[in-house]
Amino acid sequence: KSVLLSIMEGLAKVGAPNEVLEFLSGWVEGGGLQPKIPEAKGSIKAIRSVAFFIPLYELYLTYGGIFRLTFGPKSFLIVSDPSIAKHILRDNSKSYSKGILAEILDFVMGKGLIPADGEIWRVRRRAIVPALHQKYVAAMIGLFGQASDRLCQKLDAAASDGEDVEMESLFSRLTLDIIGKAVFNYDFDSLSNDTGIVEAVYTVLREAEDRSVAPIPVWEIPIWKDISPRLRKVNAALKFINDTLDDLIAICKKMVDEEELQFHEEYMNEKDPSILHFLLASGDDVSSKQLRDDLMTMLIAGHETSAAVLTWTFYLLSKEPRVVSKLQEEVDSVLGDRYPTIEDMKKLKYTTRVINESLRLYPQPPVLIRRSLEDDVLGEYPIKRGEDIFISVWNLHRSPKLWDDADKFKPERWALDGPSPNETNQNFKYLPFGGGPRKCVGDLFASYETVVALAMLMRRFNFQIAVGAPPVEMTTGATIHTTQGLKMTVTHRIKPPIVPSLQMSTMEVDPSISLS
Ligand code: HEM
Repeated sequence: KSVLLSIMEGLAKVGAPNEVLEFLSGWVEGGGLQPKIPEAKGSIKAIRSVAFFIPLYELYLTYGGIFRLTFGPKSFLIVSDPSIAKHILRDNSKSYSKGILAEILDFVMGKGLIPADGEIWRVRRRAIVPALHQKYVAAMIGLFGQASDRLCQKLDAAASDGEDVEMESLFSRLTLDIIGKAVFNYDFDSLSNDTGIVEAVYTVLREAEDRSVAPIPVWEIPIWKDISPRLRKVNAALKFINDTLDDLIAICKKMVDEEELQFHEEYMNEKDPSILHFLLASGDDVSSKQLRDDLMTMLIAGHETSAAVLTWTFYLLSKEPRVVSKLQEEVDSVLGDRYPTIEDMKKLKYTTRVINESLRLYPQPPVLIRRSLEDDVLGEYPIKRGEDIFISVWNLHRSPKLWDDADKFKPERWALDGPSPNETNQNFKYLPFGGGPRKCVGDLFASYETVVALAMLMRRFNFQIAVGAPPVEMTTGATIHTTQGLKMTVTHRIKPPIVPSLQMSTMEVDPSISLS
């Protein structure tokens, strides 16, 4: 740059025309000397024909850790490089917003914690994170056990009747039941019933997923909002959920007013340890719209993600009987037929590694979305404010440059006695829960939830892909779904244990109860 500036000075001295000098100065300022981000020539057809992160992987192998993808007037930067991901997510996170994601999710999450940016995000994050304290997460383990046991009962019946089961929808119901109770003390009981509220939640979820992959935002066309039966259904579902949330908030406020518990750091009401209860008891001064947005955000964030992790874990296990045997051996010796406790989480080491490895191969979501709020430099490339960026976690997690046997399901790649892998100790090549200030607030919750469910199901059953099941292929919404479900044959592993009476409240499960 300095050489060019001296040349310009020289030209000015010899009387070069102003136009030439202005052109050169613009070129220097605009980064004309800097390298240009590689541009991928992709066809939109290819991108839309399969789960979109698959062609992005092919393009990554050709164009490298950062490239530009252009569709007509729109362009995106695709990042698959750990140090650039670290820069965006952690080191310079203040220069990035959630961009398109916030626009797509506005109808359902408003200014909830996932889409919110700036001051609103800072204030809400500071209010919500303390609610997920150690004692809360430990209490949730009883809930995970009880909900997983309800699923086991369903599978018991299927195994006895010799009926195949579609595991993806069962996992979706399991995690919906858990998150409803954990976030606002509501028992959807979706594993047993198809109530109106369960249907409303699925209507809204499907809409959010459709919008995240829709090429044209038809929902923004004013007249469409009024005439489209689908949008009318979505709006009715949203109203139903919001009214239910308002009722739950009112009930919880009453409980808080009547209780005598002093609020403190690890405050928890034993009868209702939900996040909502913590927030209200903490005196969280927030509008009811913001509170609903946050509850809705956590409902969605903690539901499909965990369900997808379990679905893909069972799919991976169906192809690796060797891993299943090791897993079952560990569960037999650590748990037997007890409900898992917080102490067991440290002992279920291999089970945890299976989940760690499943999250590597099937990250949920497969891409993280950001928009630059300022000019910045990514790697060696200067970028402008307003760039839409996809950080492909899928590419990072499957890069042959970063992993041995990148596509192989090998829980053994994570040492049993080593630290639990995370973005920090893996230097941003492994991002199952994101990283930096916007990292998932439910990471420990979700890890324990999936470990408990996996352990309890594997203790009691063997699972195989059902004969004649449709091929298991991927499709995307916010998380990775199967295209036609995960149809499995379930058989009893051992003599069916005697299940204790489940009359007691969800939160009062005594972990020492034996299931046999
Ligand atoms: C954020 C993954 C479960 C609540 C995130 C992010 C990821 C993630 C990757 C970062 C998004 C970004 O940077 O753009 C997962 C996975 C889960 C899971 C894989 C299950 C296995 C949960 C649960 C909860 C939750 C159970 C609630 C209890 C949130 C919230 C955020 C978030 C509120 C936004 C945090 C912020 O922006 O400050 N999650 N999550 N997640 N997650 Fe999770």
